[in-house]
Amino acid sequence: MLNRLETQSPDALLALIKLYADDSRTDKIDLGVGVYRTDDGDTPVFAAIKAAEQRLVDNQDSKSYLGPEGDMGFVNALMPYIFGDDATMGGRIAGMQTPGGTGAVRLAAALAQKAGLERLYMGTPSWPNHAQIFRDIALEFAPFEHAKADGTANIDDVLEAIRSAQPNSGILLHGCCHNPTGVEYTSAQWDAIGDAIAETGIFPIIDTAYQGLGDGLEEDAAGLRSVLAKVPEAFIAYSCDKNFGMYRDRVGAFYIMANDQAVLDKAFSNANALARASWSMPPDHGGSAVREILRDGELTRLWLDELDTMRERMRQVRTRLADAGQTGGVDLAPLGQQNGLFSVLPVSKEQVATLREDHGIYMAASGRINIAGLNMGNIDKFIAAVADVTG
Ligand code: LMR
Repeated sequence: MLNRLETQSPDALLALIKLYADDSRTDKIDLGVGVYRTDDGDTPVFAAIKAAEQRLVDNQDSKSYLGPEGDMGFVNALMPYIFGDDATMGGRIAGMQTPGGTGAVRLAAALAQKAGLERLYMGTPSWPNHAQIFRDIALEFAPFEHAKADGTANIDDVLEAIRSAQPNSGILLHGCCHNPTGVEYTSAQWDAIGDAIAETGIFPIIDTAYQGLGDGLEEDAAGLRSVLAKVPEAFIAYSCDKNFGMYRDRVGAFYIMANDQAVLDKAFSNANALARASWSMPPDHGGSAVREILRDGELTRLWLDELDTMRERMRQVRTRLADAGQTGGVDLAPLGQQNGLFSVLPVSKEQVATLREDHGIYMAASGRINIAGLNMGNIDKFIAAVADVTG
């Protein structure tokens, strides 16, 4: 039976982790998978997480089951950061813990499909796993162009996609720090998107995986909040893997917004049933560590300081790249206006391969670079290599 299967290629992005590890050059640069790195190139455990984990070791008295919705202390503690002071937006939001942001996106897609969604509009390029998830559950997906060649948002294409959407369609939006382009919508553009969604009734799914790594925690939630204030129903997929540095612990949450309590309850019961059938219960450890941080003022401050440091460092890298301007055949100036961990360089697959083979610089074949992989010690080498390969 198993011989009927076709071999799948390994995930191209995750394959870079091994390729990079196997390269013996000491001046190699990893701009592949999206993890934050310090100026020394490390991805340390947050001090706030270490402290929270210590408290768990000292105080956690049971590891008994919690249920498909996971740790509701964690889920609720996050809500003011995502949705604002009125954390349930007037009682319209219910959430549950998921295995990472991917678990939340998967649950959102599966629940939307169960409720009759037939196709999902999605700006391209996007995180490659988005398309994989939608294809895997046989949800049709309709692309629109997220960004223009000058490195700004293609708002006309977004609005056209929303306005021309067929019935039973949804739209996937990145709440902030777009992966892979780093191209954000302005607040006027978010307003226009929210208005268009409200007019057409297309169902919004907002994936927020990098809150706090763009302009700031509040700033990065503004677009999402402006859409939610205008529409009757939505799904929100949330990841703590980056903004708490919990990558391999898989810490995420899925939120449902509905105007009617009975509808919200019904949708939540279906999300619970899908979660039970998928992973039964989410892994607990990361969520409990985040909960410990968010319910302690001192740990919360420590976490916020760590986030500030990360954001400021990435801003410095972006400024340095933007100052380089035209570099060979690539204009690096737009990277200064973009946000978050990623930007896309307009380079060919062949140029990506040459950067890897000749210069030990690892990036996705799409030209996506992880900004945090650059630092003041390797950025000049990177700029010179880009000039060399694209000039
Ligand atoms: C990335 O885009 O590099 C991260 O979200 C890691 C992943 O799972 O792909």
